[in-house]
Amino acid sequence: MTPDLLEDGARRLAKIAQKGEQGKTESGGREAGFSRVATPGEVDVSHGRILYLEDVCVSFDGFKAINKLSLDIAPGELRCIIGPNGAGKTTMMDIITGKTRPDSGTVFFGSTIDLLRYKEAEIAQLGIGRKFQKPTVFEQLTVFENLELALKTDKRVVPSMRFKLDSRQSDRLAEILHTIHLADSVSRMAGNLSHGQKQWLEIGMLLMQDPKLLLLDEPVAGMTDEETARTAELFLTLKGKHSLMVVEHDMSFIRTISDIVTVLCDGSVLAQGTLDQVQADERVIEVYLGR
Ligand SMILES: Nc1ncnc2c1ncn2[C@@H]1O[C@H](COP(=O)(O)OP(=O)(O)O)[C@@H](O)[C@H]1O
Ligand SMILES: [Mg+2]
Repeated sequence: MTPDLLEDGARRLAKIAQKGEQGKTESGGREAGFSRVATPGEVDVSHGRILYLEDVCVSFDGFKAINKLSLDIAPGELRCIIGPNGAGKTTMMDIITGKTRPDSGTVFFGSTIDLLRYKEAEIAQLGIGRKFQKPTVFEQLTVFENLELALKTDKRVVPSMRFKLDSRQSDRLAEILHTIHLADSVSRMAGNLSHGQKQWLEIGMLLMQDPKLLLLDEPVAGMTDEETARTAELFLTLKGKHSLMVVEHDMSFIRTISDIVTVLCDGSVLAQGTLDQVQADERVIEVYLGR
């Protein structure tokens, strides 16, 4: 995949998004191979990656928080990210979601969408959902209303001004309620849920938008052991349907859910492999796991 091709694809995609038209080849032919890369709303994963970062750098007041960071994630993969505090894990998510602009480097969603060309809200609409550490549900609303609200594009509309779900959306809501273990709590106020349940509800709200890639920052922090175990179960059911990037410190949780673990340190990848492999790596033991 050459940078030229990437550039070209991104330009065409931007043009198509602007005009709102379906993918046509420049020669005016029928969709041909091009539709594969440029149908709006679709991410081209034909190169086997849904997320691709190369040589990304960002400094804050001269301090290199992200330093030549390169990594990629396959479609449907559940990637775990570990590393000491200050390693740059949250900053990496800020960059992927458009909250922070890198000083240099490449960040692609699939092989054609150059994320550095998009604003934060546009990136969410492209299908990248993000869960911050703290749950941010609407405490005064019920579980159902929170999920319903997740579909609204204009969140300022008063929740009581009901907008009607179509049958596909209702089915999806019911399915998600089940997935996040809140089917018995539909009419409970979100404010009355346990910490773990609030986290699940927020994940459910993200799922309502059917994201292709989900970024989750320390999702089980503060959860009870039982909630943590249920969250592991939940993530394993999401794997394959969505691609996930999960930052966590809880090693037993990581052990349950992980295939490949990436260790970040000083803003770049220190090691990568199965949990057993990275746990046996001297450099990882030195900077993170301790002796
Ligand atoms: N907006 C910012 N301004 C200044 N420094 C920042 C900012 N965001 C992060 N940092 C610094 O960048 C480093 C990486 O932080 P962070 O990404 O939060 O690490 P992690 O999530 O791995 O603990 C830290 O030293 C942090 O203080
Ligand atoms: Mg962090």
